[in-house]
Amino acid sequence: MAVERTFVMLKPGVLARRIAGEIISRIERKGFDIVAMKLMRISRNLAELHYAEHAARPFFGELVEYITSGPVVAMVLEGEGAVRMMRMLCGSTRAEEACPGTIRGDYAMHTNINIIHASDSVESAKREISLFFREDEIISWPDGNDRWI
Ligand code: CMP
Repeated sequence: MAVERTFVMLKPGVLARRIAGEIISRIERKGFDIVAMKLMRISRNLAELHYAEHAARPFFGELVEYITSGPVVAMVLEGEGAVRMMRMLCGSTRAEEACPGTIRGDYAMHTNINIIHASDSVESAKREISLFFREDEIISWPDGNDRWI
């Protein structure tokens, strides 16, 4: 399977609940390479660009309000089939459909504050990564990195 990059964002509720470490642990435990990560407070403009495809949806205003309401952790993950793999780890967008054992299934009661975002395709990942990170902020893991474990 091809190595892909995906964009992930831990939403403000994660920081508010002090569970960022727990969620990042699950991502690490699954085996993704974290190749970029930063804590940031995103602007309304960046939020609107990131969620542009939802601009006409009734929940758009609330979504932008939530995502700009406090700090988020933005990340780029790398791995074989990373886009689909990360979507599976997150679970369904709709809170009531997210299975136990997935991140949303275990931590989210409401779809509009579903704690984590992950890109839905390789194309979306490229677009989203370029909104949040410069190319020189993305780190290549050296071959043989595992010898330090
Ligand atoms: P996310 O993966 O960040 O992408 C779009 C977000 O819109 C989604 O997660 C939800 O948090 C939010 N949202 C709110 N209501 C809905 C809805 N009815 N359908 C899909 N997404 C919704």
